[in-house]
Amino acid sequence: QAAEKGGYDHFMLKEMNEQPEALKAAITGRIKNGKSILSEINNLKEFITEKLRKIFVVACGTSYHAGLTFKYFMNRYSKIGVDIEVASEFRYMNPHVDENTLVLAISQSGETIDTLEGIRIAKEKGAKVITISNVFGSTIPRESHGAIYMNTGPEIGVAATKTYTAQIAILYALGAKIIELTQGSNDEIRDILKGIEEMPEVYKKVLKLNERIKELAREYVKFQHMMYIGRGFGYPTALEGALKLKEISYIHAAGYQAGELKHGPIALLDEQFPVFAIIPKDSLYEKMKSNLMESKARNANIIAITTENNNEISQLTDEYICVPQVHEALYPLAMAPVIQLFAYNVAILRKLDPDKPRNLAKSVTVE
Ligand code: G6P
Repeated sequence: QAAEKGGYDHFMLKEMNEQPEALKAAITGRIKNGKSILSEINNLKEFITEKLRKIFVVACGTSYHAGLTFKYFMNRYSKIGVDIEVASEFRYMNPHVDENTLVLAISQSGETIDTLEGIRIAKEKGAKVITISNVFGSTIPRESHGAIYMNTGPEIGVAATKTYTAQIAILYALGAKIIELTQGSNDEIRDILKGIEEMPEVYKKVLKLNERIKELAREYVKFQHMMYIGRGFGYPTALEGALKLKEISYIHAAGYQAGELKHGPIALLDEQFPVFAIIPKDSLYEKMKSNLMESKARNANIIAITTENNNEISQLTDEYICVPQVHEALYPLAMAPVIQLFAYNVAILRKLDPDKPRNLAKSVTVE
């Protein structure tokens, strides 16, 4: 096993560090010079141009957070509405899907039972189904009308890392293709896709922040709780940050839309309940700033991930990490390794095995 870990202490650490190559593999043949050249949906072209009225995303866990990021992307750029539900709810809710709906299943393993049952229901109702998966020939893609494989290589660590970022990149390529087919070309999307092509280089820089992230983990490992907050594209990242920490460090963590703080969660904050803020320099930056000030007023310790050259962040927070500036829609990709490495380092300090968290399985094939 030591050889399989390629010199790393854990598969999770190896897989986080593989993200430059994994992301590159995921977009090869799918994004080129800012254009989506995704061919896996060619058989559905007519459906997309003639019939498509709605997209419904179905997924669980980390895959759900990738799907939520896609929803923000499509809401901003596409005229086609996107709904999303976790698969365990979708399958029992009489979901509103029909022959004009594209159901998008996201499943690293391709075997998650709730997602599988979800697509079976969707097919019965006449929807077309596309699956994004990392496991060739697994059940969910086999039962779908189209499959997009992530090509990241196997992921062994129970907590999804490289497949999460690959999912987001592929979802953007898919979204861009659907937008092109239904609305024509769009310069801003071209910039976003070019940004994805540059992401492997961004990752090399972000992964070098690990020593600094370790310092933060040492300071925050003593806390029993952590509240992750974000807005817009930052919100799914907050959810994923909280999930990663819960999964492998067993510290209670929750992700909230920062604007919801005042409707309840802010009552929790004090010097024992820190905040982890996702605050890139984007269109919602000023709003996030107010939320940080509100949190500070309750004596909460604040860690932030922000964009480099943010000169005022040191006054707003106790600790911060900066990632390179990217397009607003790409911060979920640029910031992902930071939340992953933070959770990993906290787990290590607590002497836990991040590859095998208690009570969790890599692939959940029973309900
Ligand atoms: C399990 C794993 C998670 C994963 C979720 C969905 O709970 O521990 O890491 O996100 O299943 O898995 P899937 O294979 O469907 O993406």
